[in-house]
Amino acid sequence: MKHAAVTRSRDGVAVVTLDNPPVNALSAALRWATLSELRTACADDAVKAIVLICAGRTFIAGADIAEFDQPPQEPSFAQLFDAIENAPKPVIAAIHGQALGGGFELSLVCHYRVAAQSARVGLPEVHLGLLPGAGGTQRVPRITGAEVALEIITSGRSVGSAEAFALGLVDRVSADSALQDDAVDFARQIVAEGAARPRVRDREDKIAKDRNRPEMFEAFRKANARRFKGFKAPDGIIAAVEGAVTLPFEDGMALETQLFEGLLATNESAAQRHAFFAVRGTAHIPDLGRDVPVVDVKAVGIIGAGTMGGGIAMNFLNAGIPVTMVETAAAALDRGVATIRRIYEASARKGRLSAEQVGQRMGLLSPSLDYEELRNADLIVEAVFESMAVKKQVFAQLDAVARPGAILASNTSFLDLDEIANATSRPESVIGLHFFSPANVMRLVEVVRGEATAPAFVATAMKLAKRIGKVPVLSRVCPGFIANRLMAPRGEQAELLALEGTPIADIDATLRDYGFAMGHFQMMDLVGLDVVGRDGTERTIMGDLVAMERLGQKRNGGFYDYDDQRTAHPSKISADVIAAVAESRGIAPSPTSDREALLEALLLPVVNEGAKILQEQVALRSADIDVAAMLGYNWPVHTGGPMFWANTIGLGRVVAGLRELESRHGSAFRPAAMLEQLALDGGRL
Ligand code: 3HC
Ligand code: NAI
Repeated sequence: MKHAAVTRSRDGVAVVTLDNPPVNALSAALRWATLSELRTACADDAVKAIVLICAGRTFIAGADIAEFDQPPQEPSFAQLFDAIENAPKPVIAAIHGQALGGGFELSLVCHYRVAAQSARVGLPEVHLGLLPGAGGTQRVPRITGAEVALEIITSGRSVGSAEAFALGLVDRVSADSALQDDAVDFARQIVAEGAARPRVRDREDKIAKDRNRPEMFEAFRKANARRFKGFKAPDGIIAAVEGAVTLPFEDGMALETQLFEGLLATNESAAQRHAFFAVRGTAHIPDLGRDVPVVDVKAVGIIGAGTMGGGIAMNFLNAGIPVTMVETAAAALDRGVATIRRIYEASARKGRLSAEQVGQRMGLLSPSLDYEELRNADLIVEAVFESMAVKKQVFAQLDAVARPGAILASNTSFLDLDEIANATSRPESVIGLHFFSPANVMRLVEVVRGEATAPAFVATAMKLAKRIGKVPVLSRVCPGFIANRLMAPRGEQAELLALEGTPIADIDATLRDYGFAMGHFQMMDLVGLDVVGRDGTERTIMGDLVAMERLGQKRNGGFYDYDDQRTAHPSKISADVIAAVAESRGIAPSPTSDREALLEALLLPVVNEGAKILQEQVALRSADIDVAAMLGYNWPVHTGGPMFWANTIGLGRVVAGLRELESRHGSAFRPAAMLEQLALDGGRL
């Protein structure tokens, strides 16, 4: 593979084009190629200035993350960066697409930066549990001051060219189509002016004032404590930026390297890097080659304008795809349309959408009471009540109106997709598209492949999900598919522990300490106990609370009592209900006070369910299960998801913990055969 090519342009400016598809990750090979081109250009007397630019869709997107787990290879970042920074001729970075992480850091050792108008720059290392390890924590504060640097580096956000220019992070913004010409002109101008500019590392003006403000760093840490909880990288970033302000440059660099290496060795970073690749890996389906034809989805139908139908519709409208939304009654239809409009208008008030965009999106929505209007749709997504009888009837109707070759999708949460498919004359056209609530926000969509689903429709659904900004995870048919099935044991365990007398506040705190934003009971109160209450004849805590009209936050409190600020307080009423239900079911009090034991009781059954999902081949790979948990249930990313977490704590310990639960509660907790085997072999999920 060629990694860098030089084109010498007129009048003594060498244009070095870096080329390492798809995102020009700064691999060892690319570092080597860049260094050698740079040396050649420096040695050539005819060259007066050098422009570094990238081929393809983007400037350098960072270090090659896949190399982090390998031994270091020469030339190091430092070797390459020193050569650029100390080059005897001006070096100008010409940035298009994204300059991220090590890519942006490379541009900061160049003497000037020219950015295309649509370009973005940023230091996203924090999302990998890392800090910028090639000088970003030392150079950005020297340009922007420490406060802005802290915000940019701990958020990992990417900064658009206009803002980057205003902050001094880039020196010039060019029209997208003129980037290379502009950078070359700029280089010539610099040569003509003979202006020698101080290197970023030598700049003192912005950080001098920060030296008198040591309290700023602690204040920043405190103000963001909630956001940083569970993550180690933000603390390291703050320490490194503080070092930029208080230490000489070389010492600051040494501190950055030391902190980077410390973070690289943490479980949190390993977990976040796993998450990075896991999210990008879900689309790979072994039996679907690139030659499988996909359908071009130009028009979508949605059945049902309720909670899910409306949210699902918005995903398509946002992507510019027209939607026909069908309901049974005008009132429900109007309500659904009004909800969509309200959400868009709220976004507009927050400045996230323009009034024109709201108009455009609403203009793509056609509400209807007539199934006939779906006859041109390429894809129809059903989101009616969760009832097999209703769904079968709806699919029979769809079968009658949909054009041949249209994809018929169900958003069912638990029902048997194959049974739904058999209500049509074309089960090969039926697929599951299981969105998560709120469907316009949550990034996960489970693509459910039925017995008969045509491969082309599976491939289409995976591709379409990406097009509307979702992360698709492929699932086979089983009750609850991947995410809901995986997480059900956590809820069951939380309730069992409560029945045994463990205070619900302790159970919730255990989950929050692990990194979930909310405990199980808080979540139930938020969603509403009447919504999640299960059917069945057994007496349940939730059933009793609902019978008392305790529906959660929205009415009378639920598991907790709530004050006017919606702060939860332990509830005597719910404690009494829990005790009464326990007594009626003959469950003797045996509270668990040890937090670690509590955590294992709550989460090991989830791991076990994940192993069953894997061994039944409902999911393709364990990383897909992690993605489903992280994006469907907000499983904390710094643990990498349940399967990665199980590997981290050790499968031997997982199996031992499950056996312990089995001895107390019975065979439902017996470790899955796959887990037992892997634990024996020393393997990983
Ligand atoms: N290293 C290795 N592979 C990378 C990569 C990287 N830095 N960035 C992206 N890739 C791979 C992806 O895994 C994917 O591979 P696949 O096609 O085999 O699945 C492919 O490149 C395309 O990536 P995306 O699907 O994400 O493409 P998009 O166009 O949606 O997004 C992007 C492009 C915005 C550049 C996005 O890929 C991204 O955010 N990349 C990561 C950026 C990052 O985290 N950089 C910091 C790295 S750490 C670092 O630089 C340390 C330094 O401080 C020393
Ligand atoms: P909902 O009750 O809010 O909306 C259902 C809508 O379907 C109602 O507006 C109803 O009038 C309409 N409807 C019923 N029969 C119809 C028919 N024959 N033709 C046209 N419209 C009809 O329900 P919700 O919550 O949106 O759920 C819909 C589906 O999505 C269910 O299968 C549910 O299991 C699934 N789901 C729900 C999630 C949630 O959190 N609410 C999450 C993921 C999936």
